[in-house]
Amino acid sequence: MREWWKDAVFYQIYPRSFMDSNGDGIGDLAGIESKLDYLSGLGVNALWISPFFKSPMKDFGYDVSDYRDVDPMFGSLDDCKRLIAAAHQRGIRLLFDLVANHSSNEHAWFRAASAAKGAREHGYYIWKPLAGRKPNNWKSLFELRSAWYPNKATGERYLATFTRFQPEFDWRNPELRKEIYDVMRFWYGIGVDGFRLDVATAYFKDERFRSNPFSWNAVPDIFQRHIYDRNRPEVHEVFKDMRRIADEAGERVLIGETHGQEAQLAAECHGKSGDELHMAFNFDFLNQPWSAAAFRASAERWYAALPPGAWPNFTLSNHDRPRAAFRFRTGDPLVTEARARLAAAMLLTLRGSPFVYYGEELGMGCQRIPKAALRDPLGIRTWPLGFLGRDPERTPMQWDASANSGFTSGRPWLPLNRDYVSRNVAAEAAEPDSILSLYKRLLALRKSRASLREGELAFLDGEDREVLAYLRSAGKERSLVLLNFASRPARFSLAGPALAGGEILLSTDAARGLGELGAEVELAPCEGLICDLR
Ligand code: GLC
Repeated sequence: MREWWKDAVFYQIYPRSFMDSNGDGIGDLAGIESKLDYLSGLGVNALWISPFFKSPMKDFGYDVSDYRDVDPMFGSLDDCKRLIAAAHQRGIRLLFDLVANHSSNEHAWFRAASAAKGAREHGYYIWKPLAGRKPNNWKSLFELRSAWYPNKATGERYLATFTRFQPEFDWRNPELRKEIYDVMRFWYGIGVDGFRLDVATAYFKDERFRSNPFSWNAVPDIFQRHIYDRNRPEVHEVFKDMRRIADEAGERVLIGETHGQEAQLAAECHGKSGDELHMAFNFDFLNQPWSAAAFRASAERWYAALPPGAWPNFTLSNHDRPRAAFRFRTGDPLVTEARARLAAAMLLTLRGSPFVYYGEELGMGCQRIPKAALRDPLGIRTWPLGFLGRDPERTPMQWDASANSGFTSGRPWLPLNRDYVSRNVAAEAAEPDSILSLYKRLLALRKSRASLREGELAFLDGEDREVLAYLRSAGKERSLVLLNFASRPARFSLAGPALAGGEILLSTDAARGLGELGAEVELAPCEGLICDLR
């Protein structure tokens, strides 16, 4: 039987910003539950929810102080169980975010570990003597300084490569491993359908703690090639364990944030015989310029790198990078909108599981956040360097035109995007040509056509390099996808008996009438077409 997650369309929720049910200005689990009908109406069938576990929120939940409980700001464990049940009732699966490269410095394990060398938990973390020089050149990504921090009580330094508040685990310690595996079993027991594994390829560090060599990449690599503090081969052993535990629980999925820039490194995380992660997150689209050739090359690289049997995935945006509609903006708002629509058609018709970031279906972009309102440690550290911080992509979901967009009755934790009055769910749901309505049509089409869900993919070469064209086929059903990346009209000719004849099923351009497909197609600027080929 085909696994559920291969046919799923995933939707990422940043819980602080999705829906606030109690007026404290911060989204919560009951808020998510109240919007499940919206999500099922949209047509997504799996949610990845960024962390909502107990946390001092130094990295907004990516610093966990209790892995088995919900932070009161998001609700309770009972709210979580209710959310799982309510989602499952609607056929929506849930992935939680397992932050297992590091804990919060306020986790009971780190408290014990940092108080005494003799504590059992001391071995859960990475330590070096305080005396003498720092062991190497490793850096804290969000503090832009050495990753080694003093701990006077034990006369040592601990390692933290994000903020100082996120001490890193020593995954060579078998007791630590068992703790994390038990956390996974705990949530499987409660009914979660899988995990997104935060910075999974960072679990292991070089045994000899060698310094990283220089790299020209500034963002996100801070001028280092991360070959010693990340991407160590020992991680595959842990992925195998995690896969076994997921398989024992049945029908669960593991998708790893496998930081490597190179497709090859990420692809290896599936395991030589498919016995590691189900999917390695593919971030490559986040790095592409607006160009048909660039997206095609990126997808081809990914398809080619995957081992046999592995299933691809694609995403345009997440909580760490500026949103797609912002990255692909032009001086002309109409063109920006057309690009966001075209990108949606690409994401939802390629071969692989799509991940949609909350608000992307509204065409939400990003705006600069005033200094006083910044919350992200990286944004505060790198101010005024515009969009290096991550607050702009984490602003509240835009539900309607009322005060605070219907997100909260209180004061939102981050300012709303100014365009929420017109760009919101209520307004777009009522508008058949809105980008939200387009997402719904795309999702419905994907659901109804096996070729789009599971079919093979073949790229087609037209004369115009700005048209990305591909054919998806499953059995007799064939879907032709034509995406014009240019801001001018383009032609694609269907010459040859293999392609001739068909029907247009969907256009991203509201002005196009559907119907018969001619032998030569003229695409409007930034228009995407999905056609049924006979
Ligand atoms: C991942 C998360 C990011 C977080 C970091 C540290 O990259 O996506 O949001 O800050 O890990 O946990």
